[in-house]
Amino acid sequence: MDRVLIFDTTLRDGEQSPGCSMTPSEKLRLAQQLDTLGVDVIEAGFPASSPADFAGVQEIARLVRRPTIAALARAAEKDIDAAAEALEPAERSRLHVFIATSDIHLRHKLRIGREECVARAVAAVERARRYTDDVQFSAEDATRTDVAFLCRVVEAAIEAGAGTINIPDTVGYAHPEEIRRLLATLFGTVRGIRDVVVSVHCHNDLGLAVANSLAGIVAGARQVECTINGIGERAGNAALEEVVMALRVRRDSFPYEAGVRTTEIYRSSYLLSHITGIHPQPNKAVVGKNAFAHEAGIHQDGVMKEATTYEIMTPESVGVRSSSLVLGKHSGRHALSQRYRVLGYELSDEDLNHAYELFKRLSDQKKNVLDEDLLAILHHGCMEDVPTRYRLRQLEVECGSAQAVARVRLECDGVEHESRAEGDGPLAAAFAAVDAIAEGHRIELHQLSIDAITPGGDAVGEASLQASIDGKTFTGRAASPDIVNASVRAYLNALNKAAHARTLEAAALERASTVWGV
Ligand code: KIV
Ligand code: ZN
Repeated sequence: MDRVLIFDTTLRDGEQSPGCSMTPSEKLRLAQQLDTLGVDVIEAGFPASSPADFAGVQEIARLVRRPTIAALARAAEKDIDAAAEALEPAERSRLHVFIATSDIHLRHKLRIGREECVARAVAAVERARRYTDDVQFSAEDATRTDVAFLCRVVEAAIEAGAGTINIPDTVGYAHPEEIRRLLATLFGTVRGIRDVVVSVHCHNDLGLAVANSLAGIVAGARQVECTINGIGERAGNAALEEVVMALRVRRDSFPYEAGVRTTEIYRSSYLLSHITGIHPQPNKAVVGKNAFAHEAGIHQDGVMKEATTYEIMTPESVGVRSSSLVLGKHSGRHALSQRYRVLGYELSDEDLNHAYELFKRLSDQKKNVLDEDLLAILHHGCMEDVPTRYRLRQLEVECGSAQAVARVRLECDGVEHESRAEGDGPLAAAFAAVDAIAEGHRIELHQLSIDAITPGGDAVGEASLQASIDGKTFTGRAASPDIVNASVRAYLNALNKAAHARTLEAAALERASTVWGV
């Protein structure tokens, strides 16, 4: 069976979706999970775009050794040099260079003619080849490009040394029959195309990204670019879990193998949602909350008699397990570590001690501790994603009549500070009290949501927020049975990220070797 390579761009194109920006350490955590999932290529970022992106790519290149690590660069020398520098520590690296080829982009965005476009594409591939044998070329907006010109650029890129040719449907405009025809023309016209891997990269503006990707595979593409949960620019990219499960469930129509461990799909989706605070819609295929729920009586009856009546894949095949009652107040450290192992996490002694402490605190407040609670403890309590500059020591809130009043004690750089503030509600008062201590930052809260992680009145609440801090957008999240406490800690999580970004930028300014300038 032919093999289709899975090129995951969650950390690059996915991160470009509003509210999905991640810190370098969050990216590393997700990259490690993508490695476990078994993707072939991880596009770790766009190093020339920011010091944080550079640091994220470099860290992943250093620590994630099995998959190929790719970095994006425009067809410009400084972009390619920055990407190559960030990829230097990688075991296997790929330089991904791109230039737009459609007349709309050439005329209005790049303001260059077709000749110049070909020249830049060739120069970019040649420069990238100085650093690595594994160079991917993308013709941005390929599906709206004059087909004869697209064939010319692709042929020139192959001659210059590109080993992978990516055909992006950048604005999600094409439909499956067009993708099929376009690839047939490329395969029938371009010299050398059978010696390279042809890839498709489909956006979802018309909801056709997955259908177009599958059409591309049938037409000869042997690499698909996709993202977990389908996140990405505007309406997103082709969802990895949908492409992979379509290949698996409909092997009769798509006899191609993707080397992905499907039982890791749900964990990957869950981790991404935790990191970004953005959860897939409940009816999202494969990973949505309702993807395996059967509401209608007739369906429930059918599934109980024979699951295949209404289920084309099992929840277990994508790693979904139903919420189970696991531990309680009297469970010990060993039981906790065993349960984490079942959930797929091997904790270090230090993480286990910390998790156990949080588990004990939670089990005092909540009788039944579920798997979801354990994951919340792990993601929000133990695996700190950035250095903790601000830490909550105490929070007291009075509310219910007239103005709410909050008293906050924070540790900042090892020194404790206290403040008191009033507000229209408990959260407004608590945030104002934090602002009074973190007065060096300009903070504007844009969005806050609180979700119950588990069922019942004693549910753990997960607070996710987005805030503009010193002119940049940061996300923050935290979980607790007390939702005011969760919200304040989510606020501090965003502040800690902003403080860390400042430190990274200051360090980057001192590095003379790379010129940032996007
Ligand atoms: O959508 C697109 O065209 C891209 C390219 C940079 C591959 O993301
Ligand atoms: Zn894209």
